[in-house]
Amino acid sequence: MFNFDFYNPTHIVFGKDRLGELDTLVPKEAKVLITYGGGSAVRSGLIDRVTTALGNRKVEQFGGIEPNPSLETCEKAVAFIKDHDVDFVLAVGGGSVVDATKLIVMGATYDGPALDVMKAGLPEVPVEMVPNPLPFGTIMTLPATGSEMNNGAVITYGDGKFPVFSSLVFPKFSMLDPTLTFTLPEKQVKNGVIDTFVHTTEQYLTYPVEGRIQDRFCEGILKTMIEIGKETVENPGNYDIRANHVWASTLALNGLIGAGVPQDWATHMIGHELTAAYHLDHGITLAIVLPALLEVKKEDKLEKLAQYATRVWHITEGTTEEKANKAIAKTRDFFESLGVSTHLKDYGIGAEAVDKIANQLESHGMKKLGERRNITPDVVREILTRAL
Ligand code: NZQ
Ligand code: ZN
Repeated sequence: MFNFDFYNPTHIVFGKDRLGELDTLVPKEAKVLITYGGGSAVRSGLIDRVTTALGNRKVEQFGGIEPNPSLETCEKAVAFIKDHDVDFVLAVGGGSVVDATKLIVMGATYDGPALDVMKAGLPEVPVEMVPNPLPFGTIMTLPATGSEMNNGAVITYGDGKFPVFSSLVFPKFSMLDPTLTFTLPEKQVKNGVIDTFVHTTEQYLTYPVEGRIQDRFCEGILKTMIEIGKETVENPGNYDIRANHVWASTLALNGLIGAGVPQDWATHMIGHELTAAYHLDHGITLAIVLPALLEVKKEDKLEKLAQYATRVWHITEGTTEEKANKAIAKTRDFFESLGVSTHLKDYGIGAEAVDKIANQLESHGMKKLGERRNITPDVVREILTRAL
């Protein structure tokens, strides 16, 4: 197992009927800005309920944060905060609203354009650059990204999507009420199942380092998602099934399962370029890229793929390679069983995407991806060709 630090200060408030507790979670004297997306939280009445729960505090609102949030929108929110008296931000929405809020709380206390903060975001915004981002909490309405309990954001800028990290932008608290996700369109639930699954494989399907506890955390999440994935799509109002989805999503990307083990993330980086180029939902891009990537990188990942086959899919027959092959096929079938195609052609995207995406990655400086840093632009071409 590798050396690691594990730090996660986010207070999780899980379960239904807990909105009233906002009154104790948000400082009494706070001047609050509620950030939200394209309107789903307004239509469901959630924003009104949140405002009521905040009682006599001064409350402002900033809506219109789009999926795959843009730097421009974040900059507008930063300008709004600089013009108004705000000292606490409450993000109400999915991963996009929470991600945007992370950049916004940094931009709001930085004396310069938010673009500077974004550019400094990988591997991490230096603490000296933004030492005091505004504190923020979240009310998460879409189980997928894990953004509610991590310190990362993904922001769209120009022709790409870029990760931004800071150890100072963990949410102070996140309310995870599974009933708030019941209004999700079916498509977004599918996306959430796939995102959770692929966050886990990014930290699991690499090479063995005797991270036994991490492996078993991952296998637990993967098995749970296989068990409940279809059901949570088909029976959105089943509380216990959705509660498991919500908690699995949080655990898949809060730093726990990836501590001390190698991590891949190439599926995500390729996927982000597909979203930037073709506006495909994040979850869909992962369903397209992961099976193809596993096929291409099978040799490198052989031992873990065989372990995945046996422990997650209960495949006990065959050689190591045969087990790996079957597990990759099962993964593809799982995504397809949710009604999500794993082929670019089904989204109207043809062979032109192969060079376009590989070139985009290269121009964004991502020439050596994966846990062994050996997914070069040429390997990306091979992966995308298989994904056609
Ligand atoms: O904008 P509104 O009107 O709220 O509608 C949203 C949006 O259209 C809707 N929605 C959310 N909650 C709802 C709801 N509709 C009805 N009822 C509800 N309860 O769902 C749509 C998609 O929302 P979005 O926030 O974009 O989805 P998601 O949570 O999947 O977030 C995707 C973004 O997160 C980034 C992705 O790249 C993408 O930009 N990621 C962030 C990560 C992180 N911070 O750690 C990691 C991930 O790998 C991912 O990259
Ligand atoms: Zn993801």
